[in-house]
Amino acid sequence: MRPGCVAYLCLGSTVGLVQGISNGNVSEPVTLTVGREGGNKSSPLLYGVMFEVFHSWVLIVHKRIINGTNLSGNGSFWYAGPHEASERALTTCCQGDGGIHGQLLQNNGFQGTSLGMTSYAPVGDVEISQDMSNPVSDAITSSLKVSVPDGATEYAGFANTGYIGVPVMNHTYKSSFWMKGDYSGTVNLQLVGSVSGIVYADHNLTVKSTSSKFREFETSFNSTESPDGDNEWHLTIDGSKVAGSSLNFGLIQLFPPTYNDRDNGLRHDLATALDHVNSAFLRFPGGNNIEGLEIDSRWKWNTTIGPLVDRPGRESDWFYPNTDALGLDEYLWWCEDMNMAPLLAIWSGKSYGGIVSGSDLKPFVDDIMNEMEYLFGSEHTHYGKMRIDNGRKEPWKVDFVEIGNEDDLTGGCDTYPDRFNQIYKAIHDKYPNITLVASNGNYSCLPSPLPQNVIIDLHLYRQPDDFVALFNQFDNQPRNQSVMVGEYGCRNTSSALGTYWSFMQGSCSEAIYMMGMERNSDIVQMAAYAPLLEHFGFISWSPTMYGFNSSPETLTLSTSYYVQQMFSSNKGNTVLPVNSTADFGPLYWVATKTDSKYYMKLANYGPDEQNVTVSIPKTESGRLEMLGGSQNEGNQPYDVTVMPVTTNLTGDHGNYSVTMAPWAVAVLIAT
Ligand SMILES: *[C@@H]1O[C@H](CO)[C@@H](O)[C@H](O)[C@H]1NC(C)=O
Ligand SMILES: *[C@@H]1O[C@H](CO)[C@@H](O)[C@H](O)[C@H]1NC(C)=O
Ligand SMILES: *[C@@H]1O[C@H](CO)[C@@H](O)[C@H](O)[C@H]1NC(C)=O
Ligand SMILES: *[C@@H]1O[C@H](CO)[C@@H](O)[C@H](O)[C@H]1NC(C)=O
Ligand SMILES: *[C@@H]1O[C@H](CO)[C@@H](O)[C@H](O)[C@H]1NC(C)=O
Ligand SMILES: *[C@@H]1O[C@H](CO)[C@@H](O)[C@H](O)[C@H]1NC(C)=O
Ligand SMILES: *[C@@H]1O[C@H](CO)[C@@H](O)[C@H](O)[C@H]1NC(C)=O
Ligand SMILES: *[C@@H]1O[C@H](CO)[C@@H](O)[C@H](O)[C@H]1NC(C)=O
Ligand SMILES: *[C@@H]1O[C@H](CO)[C@@H](O)[C@H](O)[C@H]1NC(C)=O
Ligand SMILES: *[C@@H]1O[C@H](CO)[C@@H](O)[C@H](O)[C@H]1NC(C)=O
Ligand SMILES: *[C@@H]1O[C@H](CO)[C@@H](O)[C@H](O)[C@H]1NC(C)=O
Ligand SMILES: *[C@@H]1O[C@H](CO)[C@@H](O)[C@H](O)[C@H]1NC(C)=O
Repeated sequence: MRPGCVAYLCLGSTVGLVQGISNGNVSEPVTLTVGREGGNKSSPLLYGVMFEVFHSWVLIVHKRIINGTNLSGNGSFWYAGPHEASERALTTCCQGDGGIHGQLLQNNGFQGTSLGMTSYAPVGDVEISQDMSNPVSDAITSSLKVSVPDGATEYAGFANTGYIGVPVMNHTYKSSFWMKGDYSGTVNLQLVGSVSGIVYADHNLTVKSTSSKFREFETSFNSTESPDGDNEWHLTIDGSKVAGSSLNFGLIQLFPPTYNDRDNGLRHDLATALDHVNSAFLRFPGGNNIEGLEIDSRWKWNTTIGPLVDRPGRESDWFYPNTDALGLDEYLWWCEDMNMAPLLAIWSGKSYGGIVSGSDLKPFVDDIMNEMEYLFGSEHTHYGKMRIDNGRKEPWKVDFVEIGNEDDLTGGCDTYPDRFNQIYKAIHDKYPNITLVASNGNYSCLPSPLPQNVIIDLHLYRQPDDFVALFNQFDNQPRNQSVMVGEYGCRNTSSALGTYWSFMQGSCSEAIYMMGMERNSDIVQMAAYAPLLEHFGFISWSPTMYGFNSSPETLTLSTSYYVQQMFSSNKGNTVLPVNSTADFGPLYWVATKTDSKYYMKLANYGPDEQNVTVSIPKTESGRLEMLGGSQNEGNQPYDVTVMPVTTNLTGDHGNYSVTMAPWAVAVLIAT
């Protein structure tokens, strides 16, 4: 049922399922007549997105230019496949840290094993170093030592250059740091142009710090806008008070305004763009990233909760650190704020470095049940109380839990039935209302029989023609097995680096595959586009739904973003039969409705314009949203050329004339 495809690499897929698709040249307009009754139910959660911190190709760029001087810099390509741990990427990001999570300073707690002094630099006449003998906490195991020479008189300290610069806008910023060492007086914080030296924000706070322990200081200040992303955050102290001595700093943070004003929240701009997609669910926290390169470096729920100073972070599966500031509770606030159903993945015993099964899995199953108690328990339970102490009184609403990730791969197949059964039984016995998801659709890697109501998860990254050929993938599937397509996206895997930006043909092919799912959404319950976003300075895995860098106005919505938005925002609850005067191809369609509102989705996978008459009896008028562009056209930073265009249509006795541009995707909403 499932053509082989790995989440992180999908080369040369082979598919032979094409049926009933002709590539006939349509000379007469195609007439599509929508039936008013008789369709299958459509899943309300059909269109969602997948989040994880991941990449396959890593572009490493170190850049530090102060006041016109290029102090350091080199760029190189690395391939860091998950099994090639010897090839370490020095730095990359940015879906969570450096991405949708609001904190803007990189390497702020020296977490993980790979970053060293990345993003730090001295300001003024000081020496700075990572100090392992002065941990901020048990979790934050080192700090930054700032050594001031004898005879110092000026303000001096250190800079953090963020994720290839710090976005500096006309905003109120929140900033905090931990500090240890004898110092009473002024700490100066600035946002400064790295090249220009222009000071965009300049703020003093008075601190009283001692050498006995680390103490946290927090403040906020306003900034003016920098025209570019070449900015850094500076912390300086009065050098004359520390001459011949040193101070230690740790867990520095800088936040712009956050989405819904949450503490430790999401970046307002990047989160708002996602909110506008109207996704129905979020799949997190992985993906491969939950698995761990070793058992002990798996994603551990209980190290991602509570005060940040108690979160150690981890070296991710992709050779760069996760700070885990975006932790379990933050994911769930995110879902709630955007009205998305959470699909929470839990660790199922498989890491890249080892697999735990049989009775050895028992403690890990217990840990999963602790996690469930944290999510759902009352104040009278140990973990429920912990959740309440962490700021969430009501139980979280989590209706979907996925057991592992791609357990048919990387050696997981043989043991998955056993691991699945143990975890399924524990969760299902105590929480019968949770729908459990099996991490793959390969029946030889699944328990037999699979318990009822379990959803199987398929992942597909494909080239455009292959996606179109999969339009009818679900047409002839048994109707009693629910499916989630937990990751999908068009990839031009013939491109040398596998990295490129979404373009119209690819996005059109995704739309056609989505129509195939929507037609069958009585069994396809959920589908998550992946990946979500990328920082253009760290080309990780492409394409993504949207991208950005540290400069103003670089938030760029791809053609695939718009397809997701158009489809997620216009979904009926019933799939309707359609009579047509032509076979599928190059024109594809699906019709749905909710009450008296009808939705006709259309895609034209070809170079010729297609005239279509859509007949929706007993409707009067319609709104047509169309995304069109040339075959290879895509949106680039500062050069967004493809966007949906909306027109109003008047129905002639319920007949609407639609001219589908080449490679266009459209939705007609009629009432
Ligand atoms: C469609 O038109 C093109 C160009 O005229 C032609 O090459 C192709 O064979 C036609 N296809 C069919 C199915 O008639
Ligand atoms: C579709 O075609 C079938 C068979 O000709 C016919 O019975 C049915 O009424 C048609 N439906 C619509 C909505 O036109
Ligand atoms: C509903 O599902 C059945 C079973 O696959 C299928 O035969 C039928 O065509 C579907 N109806 C519609 C309107 O898609
Ligand atoms: C800085 O130096 C690096 C390495 O020499 C070089 O690749 C880069 O282009 C320089 N950047 C600028 C802005 O001059
Ligand atoms: C900065 O933002 C404030 C508050 O939103 C606004 O009143 C002010 O005009 C802005 N200033 C500039 C220079 O854009
Ligand atoms: C930049 O260089 C100029 C001239 O050398 C100097 O006066 C200024 O203080 C420098 N600014 C910063 C932020 O280092
Ligand atoms: C911060 O304090 C220093 C030292 O007192 C002073 O020179 C500077 O003007 C102050 N900056 C601001 C923005 O208040
Ligand atoms: C910062 O900007 C906000 C919003 O524009 C304003 O309300 C506040 O008074 C400003 N704070 C300072 C210290 O200027
Ligand atoms: C997390 O849970 C594991 C397993 O129950 C336990 O060994 C560990 O001490 C916990 N860690 C924290 C930080 O609570
Ligand atoms: C399961 O859902 C039903 C119906 O919504 C509800 O009555 C019941 O309390 C739920 N059971 C549990 C254990 O949450
Ligand atoms: C589609 O319809 C328009 C307007 O009626 C017409 O100008 C155009 O030639 C038609 N295109 C095709 C391919 O038939
Ligand atoms: C389409 O109709 C809506 C609501 O009737 C109206 O608000 C909108 O301005 C119209 N758009 C155009 C392009 O005419």
